[in-house]
Parts: sequence; structure tokens; C-alpha cells
Amino acid sequence: MSNSEIIFAPSILSADFSNLALECQAVEAAGCDWVHLDVMDGHFVPNLTFGPDVVSALRKHITTVMDVHLMISPTALLLEKFISTQADVITVHVEATSHIYKDLQLIRNSGIKAGVALNPGTPATTIAPLLDMIDLVCIMTVNPGFGGQRFISNQLQKIREIRELIGNRSIYLEVDGGIDTSNVGLAAKAGANVFVAGTSIFKGGSFKNPDIYRDNIVDLRKQALGA
Ligand code: DX5
Ligand code: ZN
Repeated sequence: MSNSEIIFAPSILSADFSNLALECQAVEAAGCDWVHLDVMDGHFVPNLTFGPDVVSALRKHITTVMDVHLMISPTALLLEKFISTQADVITVHVEATSHIYKDLQLIRNSGIKAGVALNPGTPATTIAPLLDMIDLVCIMTVNPGFGGQRFISNQLQKIREIRELIGNRSIYLEVDGGIDTSNVGLAAKAGANVFVAGTSIFKGGSFKNPDIYRDNIVDLRKQALGA
């Protein structure tokens, strides 16, 4: 996985939950690069989605990159179970664990790319001691828990700061939340290269009508590349 290109990772939080496998297949056929799975436990965030068994079941239907975003605490409780799902990337929140370094080691030692996620109130400098332990930084551009929220534009400064901290390391810079055609170019210009989008990709389409997914991804990619 080269981390210089622009990558779109639809969040299935905005997909039809009664047809998740079909939705993953449809959005991959529509030209996405990764598939983003938002795991929520109703404790770290005020919402509940799905657990490791659903992620394992979806693994069989995701042929691109399965990008698992753990919004669960304490992270250690279920981390091993998510590692066994054969995800390509597992991202943990620095706010959800007392042992972020140990959690990242566990993910990395399992041969999975390790990501760290920062909520909007967590400073960029938090990742300084982790730079040699991560393959991805996920900057939350909404308060985690729900799709369809507005992009928090003051996170653009944090994107620039993190791009600076990353330097020439091979680390993906992912933004997650409220990404649409009005702000994806700004985020790209600030230094992001992986874009999680739920509403702006899934809106108006369905696995029966995936052309809308394709159009939405094309529009977003155009804006990101034009930045
Ligand atoms: C929020 C999730 C995001 C969100 C993105 O906690 O991490 O991935 O679902 O959805 P939109 O693009 O609708 O903000
Ligand atoms: Zn997410």
C-alpha cells in the first residue's frame, strides 16, 4: 500500500445495515480504495454498531483494504478478537486506552497495520512518541459516534501539524467525519491522503443502484485531486 496516493474509504456506518455484505461489494465495484468499518461499543461513544463476528463475516466480502476503526473502551478487552478478523488496518483511539503503545505493538506484531485515532480535542503532539509504532493516523473531524455530522474545520490546523510530524515516514494521514465535496480539497491541501466518507458516498444510492456511489466517489476524488 503506497501512502502517497489519494485514498477513499467509505464508512459503512451510512450503508444499509440489513445488507452490509452487498453494500461492501457495491461500493468496491463503484471504485472505492478501502472500506471503513466503524466499531462502536455504546460506551466510548454513545452509539452501538457491530462486533468482531460481523467484521470477520464481512472480511470474506471485502477484497480491497478492510480499515477497522475501533471506538471501544477499554480497547484491550476485545482487541485480540478484532486482530483475528484479519483486518488490514486496525485503528485505536488514544483516548480509549491506558496502554496505547502496548495496543499498537499487539496490532503490529500480528502483521496488521496499526492506526491511532485522535478525537477533535486531542492535540497533534500526542502522536510524537508513537511515530515509529504506527502506519496510520486518523484525525476525527467530527465527534465520534454518528455519521451525517458537520466537518469541524479547526481540525485543518491539526492535519497540517500531523503532516509535519510524520515527515518522510510511510504513515497514512486519514481524516474521518463530515467529509464532502466542500471540504475534501481543504483536507487534502492540509496534508490528508486517506478520506473516510459515509454520508457523502452512500447518500442517494443503494447496492441495487451503485452508480450513485460511483458518481459520489468520482466527485470527491476530483475535488481532492484538484486541491
Ligand atoms: C464517526 C465515524 C465516521 C463517520 C463518517 O464516529 O468514525 O467514520 O461514520 O460518516 P460521515 O461521512 O457521514 O460523517
Ligand atoms: Zn470512522
